[in-house]
Amino acid sequence: PHVIYLSRHGQSEYNVLGKLGGNPPLSPAGQEYARRPAQPLQLSRWHATRAAALSLSLPDAASVGSRSGSPRVYRNLDEIFAGEYEGMTYEEIKKIAPSEATLRSMDKIGYRYPRGESYFDILARLDPLVHELESYHEPLLLVSHQAVLRLLYSYLMGKPRHQAPKVEIPLHTVIRITYDGWNPPYEERFVLG
Ligand code: G3H
Repeated sequence: PHVIYLSRHGQSEYNVLGKLGGNPPLSPAGQEYARRPAQPLQLSRWHATRAAALSLSLPDAASVGSRSGSPRVYRNLDEIFAGEYEGMTYEEIKKIAPSEATLRSMDKIGYRYPRGESYFDILARLDPLVHELESYHEPLLLVSHQAVLRLLYSYLMGKPRHQAPKVEIPLHTVIRITYDGWNPPYEERFVLG
């Protein structure tokens, strides 16, 4: 079977403030998460451990395959781009553009931020990456962001796409998904925070 580990990057300063996007540094708790060794996750190889340590410390984390022994950065795994609302909180968006907030709540998967992205846009950029991932035959750790991981998680677990934007992907938790294409996929969670 295939084994894929999913994790959000360590908590960032923006996560603490509830702000969208940007490229903020990790908070102290996020830095601690990034330093956690991956052995408890039973990643089979030393280099995967190293990949985990490195990638969890990337604040704009968009990584990782351990195939060649070192992490790789994939821009396809970047967080949803909030366009004109980058760096704002949900409350600030509601204040300056209440109708936009309403539109998003009515169609979260289809809503595109002004000059930014929608969940459908993320799906489009994930498509080539998913094909690549499925050709790997060793455990992979993907470190990314909540919006992107919601879509990957839902795809790998066979959950309905339209519900994906509301799936909770907690910080400081590694999700291990095992699937073989025949039996139902299953997940285990390792809370490291
Ligand atoms: O910080 C942004 C989140 O990862 C995406 O959350 O799509 O629920 O606004 P949202």
